[in-house]
Amino acid sequence: MSDPILKVEDLRVYFYTYAGVVKAVDGVSFEVYNKEVFGLIGETGCGKTVTSRAITRLIPDPGRIESGRALFRINSRWVDLLKLPEDELRKIRGSMITYVFQDPTSALDPLYTAGYQIVETILAHNKTHPREAWSKAIETLRRVLIPEPEIRARSYPHELSGGMKQRVVAGASIVNEPRLLVADEPTTNVDVTIQAQMIELLSQLKNLKGMSIILVTHNMGLIAEMADRVAVMYAGKIVEIADVNTIFEEPLHPYTQGLINCVPDPTKELKELYPIAGTVPDLINPPSGCRFWPRCSRAMDICKREAPPGINVSEGHRVECWLYAGSGL
Ligand SMILES: Nc1ncnc2c1ncn2[C@@H]1O[C@H](COP(=O)(O)OP(=O)(O)OP(=O)(O)O)[C@@H](O)[C@H]1O
Ligand code: SF4
Ligand SMILES: [Mg+2]
Repeated sequence: MSDPILKVEDLRVYFYTYAGVVKAVDGVSFEVYNKEVFGLIGETGCGKTVTSRAITRLIPDPGRIESGRALFRINSRWVDLLKLPEDELRKIRGSMITYVFQDPTSALDPLYTAGYQIVETILAHNKTHPREAWSKAIETLRRVLIPEPEIRARSYPHELSGGMKQRVVAGASIVNEPRLLVADEPTTNVDVTIQAQMIELLSQLKNLKGMSIILVTHNMGLIAEMADRVAVMYAGKIVEIADVNTIFEEPLHPYTQGLINCVPDPTKELKELYPIAGTVPDLINPPSGCRFWPRCSRAMDICKREAPPGINVSEGHRVECWLYAGSGL
C-alpha cells in the first residue's frame, strides 16, 4: 500500500443544540492513501458528511470539533488541519483539498458564467494571467466531459442542465489539481442518466495525476465500482474498515453484514432499503456500550456495558465489535 496523505485520529464533533449535545462524530480514526478512493458509507445521519467536512473544519454552528487530529501530508511534512491558523487552512481548502457537494445549484453563483467561476478558483490560489486562467478553465471543462467547452464556458448556471452544473462544480474542484477531493453524495437527488454520467466522471477523476478521493455515499453500487477501501459508519463511529473486496466478501461487523446481505441490488440506495430492523439511535443519548446493540442479533452482556475496542483482525482490516476481541493481530 502506498503512503497515507491524510491521517484522521480520534475525531470528535459535537453539536450543542437546545435539545442536548448531538455526538455526531465520536472517536473516528482512518487514513487515506495516495491515489486511492476511500469510501465512507452508512445510513442517513451516521456522521459521514460531518466527518468529511471536519477535516478542513467546515462545521456549521452549533457544531464544535471537540478533539482529534487531521494530519495532512504536504511534501514530507505533516500538518494538523485542526490546529492550522485559518488563513493557512484557507489556502489548503480549494487548492490541495477540495469538495464536490451534493447540490450543484448552491455551489454556483447565478450571476457569473461557468468559465468565470472556474477562473476565480484558479486566481484565488495561483498567480496566473487571467487569459491563461481562461484557457485553463476551458481545458478543465473539457476534462470533466463538457461538450463544446468554449461555448459552455460563457453560459450562466441557469442555462445549464443539472448534470452540466454538477460537472462545472467538479471542474472547479479539480482545476487546482488537489491532492484530495471529497465527493459527498455525488449521485443523490439526480436522475439515473446524470447518475451514470457522474459515475463516469468520477472514474475519470480517479485517474487524475496523484489525486485521492473520499467518496461519501449511500450507494453500495458506487462503492463497489469505485472504492479501493471502505469505512462503514454507524451512529458517529467507524465500525469497520477494510479493502472493498473484504467488505463485500468477508464483512465481520454485524452491521456491515446486515448492509451487505440485505442489499440484493447494489444499485439501490441504502435509504430506500431499510436493511436492518430498528432505527439509527438518537445521538444525544446513544445506547451505552456498543451503539449497535439494540439492533444486533448477536449482542452479548458486555456489548451493553462497554464500547468495543477497535480490533485489527488482519492487515488493513479493523473492526469495532466484541465478537472479535482477542482475535486481533
Ligand atoms: N447543524 C447541525 N445541527 C445539529 N445537528 C447536526 C447538524 N448537522 C448535522 N447534525 C447531526 O449530526 C449527525 C450526523 O450528520 P451527517 O450530516 O454527518 O450525516 P450523514 O451520514 O452525512 O447523513 P446523510 O446520509 O443523510 O447525508 C446527524 O445526527 C445530524 O442530526
Ligand atoms: S459489539 Fe456486540 S452489539 Fe456491537 S456489533 Fe458486536 S456483537 Fe453486536
Ligand atoms: Mg451527508
